[in-house]
Amino acid sequence: MFFAIHNLIAHYQKAEVLKGISLELVEGQVIAILGANGAGKTTTLKVISGLKRPTAGEVWFCGQRIEGKSPGGIVKLGISQVPEGRKIFPQMSVMENLLMGAYLRRGEEVNRDVEHIYEYFPILKQRQGQLGGSLSGGEQQMLAIGRALMSKPKLLLMDEPTLGLSPIIVQQIAQIIRDINQEGVSIILVEQNAHLALRLAHWGYVLELGSIVAQGSSQELGESEYVKRAYLGG
Ligand SMILES: Nc1ncnc2c1ncn2[C@@H]1O[C@H](COP(=O)(O)OP(=O)(O)OP(=O)(O)O)[C@@H](O)[C@H]1O
Ligand SMILES: [Mg+2]
Repeated sequence: MFFAIHNLIAHYQKAEVLKGISLELVEGQVIAILGANGAGKTTTLKVISGLKRPTAGEVWFCGQRIEGKSPGGIVKLGISQVPEGRKIFPQMSVMENLLMGAYLRRGEEVNRDVEHIYEYFPILKQRQGQLGGSLSGGEQQMLAIGRALMSKPKLLLMDEPTLGLSPIIVQQIAQIIRDINQEGVSIILVEQNAHLALRLAHWGYVLELGSIVAQGSSQELGESEYVKRAYLGG
């Protein structure tokens, strides 16, 4: 199995926010995690990327258990995260932000990788000397995605990549997510925009108050009365 979580439990102080969740990802695919505010989506991604220690449970990636490893160690194994709220470095230039994602690599190869990111996002090339904080919301999201790609992940974790963006930019980001997946990167996509998420994903999970309450192919979830009522606006 390329990636799997078994019975994952996580707490903040005494509050149990993940109550034993399990999920799987087939290599090359996109899975969506749907859920309302506070469901535990970001916490799930933080456990995977090593930013949050779970109380119990297992995270498997390419044949080894990774729960409890350091964030840097997990990046080196091939998992990188596009964080909620983008979290680019506002006082650094676009180019410097991208180099921060190269994770201790430097030199010619890294320069080639930056050029590859600029092929995905020509606007970032135009703005490469500008401070990250001066970019629009959509450009900052592109920069956050570009930075995560600089570590050459096999698995990309994306936390609400379209939140707060205009419809045109949302469609651009959606196309970028498709392109990244076409290049062979597997993706865990956390989205409150369930329509979009089910369009992009092969398989989806519905997380409510720390438990998985439904799962299925995107088509199955899209046709489920429950999912339609709760997440697709009727
Ligand atoms: N650092 C923290 N300390 C204490 N409680 C936290 C912390 N981060 C999150 N929580 C709580 O854990 C629960 C799950 O939060 P989480 O951020 O994982 O949800 P989410 O599904 O990503 O929500 P959203 O859609 O709002 O981003 C919530 O009840 C939240 O209040
Ligand atoms: Mg969140």
